[in-house]
Amino acid sequence: MLRCATRVHYQIATQSRPCYRAQFFRSTPPERQANTHLSAGTTRVRAFESRSPGQRVRTLSMAANGPESSKKVAVVTGANKGIGYEIARQLAQAGLHVVLTARNNDLGAEAAKKVADSAGTSDVTFKWLDIADPASVNEFGKWAEQDLQNVDILVNNAGIAYKGNVFGAEEARHTMATNFSGTRAVCERLERLVPEGGRIVNVCSLAGKLSILRSPELRARFEEAATAEDVAKLSEEFLQAVADGSYQKQGWPGSMYGVSKLCEATYSRVLAEQLKPRGVSVYACCPGYVATDMSSFRGHKTAEQGADTPVWLALHAPADGSGKFYSDRKEEPF
Ligand SMILES: NC(=O)c1ccc[n+]([C@@H]2O[C@H](COP(=O)([O-])OP(=O)(O)OC[C@H]3O[C@@H](n4cnc5c(N)ncnc54)[C@H](OP(=O)(O)O)[C@@H]3O)[C@@H](O)[C@H]2O)c1
Repeated sequence: MLRCATRVHYQIATQSRPCYRAQFFRSTPPERQANTHLSAGTTRVRAFESRSPGQRVRTLSMAANGPESSKKVAVVTGANKGIGYEIARQLAQAGLHVVLTARNNDLGAEAAKKVADSAGTSDVTFKWLDIADPASVNEFGKWAEQDLQNVDILVNNAGIAYKGNVFGAEEARHTMATNFSGTRAVCERLERLVPEGGRIVNVCSLAGKLSILRSPELRARFEEAATAEDVAKLSEEFLQAVADGSYQKQGWPGSMYGVSKLCEATYSRVLAEQLKPRGVSVYACCPGYVATDMSSFRGHKTAEQGADTPVWLALHAPADGSGKFYSDRKEEPF
């Protein structure tokens, strides 16, 4: 089996002894392999998997208390273009192993190559991920569990917005299925891989703030939402109201995008609360009005500038800001 043909090479670094190398078959759990070498004075074990001499598949390092990735891993959704591409590029430049995901294989693979070239690194991996397709989310989750183990940073950037005056039940459902339900599905599939100190950044929008709701009752229900199911119920009510034409009477705005982003931001707050005991931070943010395909390139910020706040949240934001909404690196009243 290919699995058995994969060897793990270890370089053992000790305080008192010179470095030496060891080889194991991949089927032996890395922790056990490392522990056999973790004697007194051993400070660090660097390991890499290879299928042939010189071919490095993955590098990890282990400290005396177990495995840790030598590079932090960041997963970015919808990263084949626009703000997502820039987020991936800036995270790769900051020294992270970036898993650039996209729903189109060719565009994603090409973007990953460009990111790697631009950041001068080989630690960029492309993986197919359509966030609105549960089978794709599950397949990605399985791969991440096996091959990444840890996702230190998850940036949920993928999103859609219909252009012009398009408004209808089907379009509202598609928008919600991507921006809110898709983001939720990715978070729920991957959050178990986010370690203590890890971060989840959801790229939402100022177009999806509470103030877009005219009904005080609806506003209160969004403010009081305590579970992902509460948010899902609100999103379903909106979709029903669009379908039967009663949305205005019920106090919903005529913005499919705005309500989907409001659901996404509300879910971020709920998820932050849920993950607090595990020491995982969750942030919602708006990148600003950015010149990308989504804005028909009319935004006043470049994609590079639009990526600034999401990247800052992923790397530097204070942990006590978890659950809050950010814009231009500042907390934004929601
Ligand atoms: N641009 C702005 O002014 C602005 C303002 C506020 C918030 N935002 C938010 O910023 C984020 C990025 O937007 P952008 O301006 O960079 O837009 P963009 O250029 O249109 O990029 C959107 C990205 O999301 C991907 N995507 C859409 N549906 C997907 C799905 N089901 N699965 C996986 N990927 C999917 C797109 O892939 P394809 O290429 O395959 O379509 C593309 O890579 C979005 O969440 C957006 O709502 C943007």
